[in-house]
Amino acid sequence: MPTHTATAISNPNIAFIKYWGNRNNALRLPVNGSISMNLDGLFTRTSVSFQPSLAFDELIINTHDVMGKGLERVSAILDIVRENAGLTWKAEVVSENNFPTGAGIASSAAAFAALAMAAAQAAGLNWSEAAISRLARLGSGSAARSVPTGFVEWKMGTSDNDCYAVSIAPPEHWSLADCVTVVNAGHKTTGSTEGHALASTSPLQASRVADAPRRLDICRSAIFNRDFDALAAVIEHDSDIMHAVMMTSQPALFYWKPATLSVMETVREWRKGGMPVAYTIDAGPNVHVICLQEIAANVADTLRALPGVANVLVATPGKSARLVS
Ligand code: PMV
Repeated sequence: MPTHTATAISNPNIAFIKYWGNRNNALRLPVNGSISMNLDGLFTRTSVSFQPSLAFDELIINTHDVMGKGLERVSAILDIVRENAGLTWKAEVVSENNFPTGAGIASSAAAFAALAMAAAQAAGLNWSEAAISRLARLGSGSAARSVPTGFVEWKMGTSDNDCYAVSIAPPEHWSLADCVTVVNAGHKTTGSTEGHALASTSPLQASRVADAPRRLDICRSAIFNRDFDALAAVIEHDSDIMHAVMMTSQPALFYWKPATLSVMETVREWRKGGMPVAYTIDAGPNVHVICLQEIAANVADTLRALPGVANVLVATPGKSARLVS
């Protein structure tokens, strides 16, 4: 008899071209495609165990029982898996991650990628990477991108069926590093699910979306050609545009802290001085400083010494979500 238990590991990812806003909030169908890099070294490990004796789904994250909205989001994914597998058993989900949650390091991306993979496997579904990416997307859009390996593009698609992420280059394609500069590890005030729903209230969102195919083309080519200057220019621009939309939505969302701005300024100065560094910021105050691996240790040390910087985590391109025994 199958054990109905499986464990998966997944890395978070950093978006180079951002996803912000859905054309369908329930299905998390985005208004634009996005490109990201998985982050090795940071991970979520999730075990799913379907058991006949459970009356409810149970969720434990970093040893804490989670109820309410967090559990509902997980149960919604489990329901889809149960429906496809013809299973009625509830599940125990135990998840751990080694990085601060809710602070712009996309903990939900790694969490839902690992959950989708572990749940599908535990239920005996033999799903393709694309199918797991679609399932992960329903939990958190950016989780679709933590399923394939390395450098990843999530295409808008035309419907639920073709809206998933694919790898555009393996991790070893380009020796980049992300120096995740933690300026405030506290919980963010407005989560991205609510943020996506506000995106269309900004008059800038329509222009951001209309110009997205151009930025995606530049970013994809920069990755293919390992062209750091082109990558730096487009990722900073894309991040700035997304934050402009956030700041001009109603209500306005300001994710930056004073230290966020001073790190951005420092990175721009370094690049002017010839250093291959660039910033990008998700829905939180932390600054992802992207650079070549050969200078990452130095960049991280220098960032650590800046005022307002609490910690710097260094991550290199990560692999796909994967099952572990
Ligand atoms: O997947 P979500 O709903 O957590 O949204 C992620 C949004 C950003 O991190 C700001 C951008 C992105 O593409 O990852």
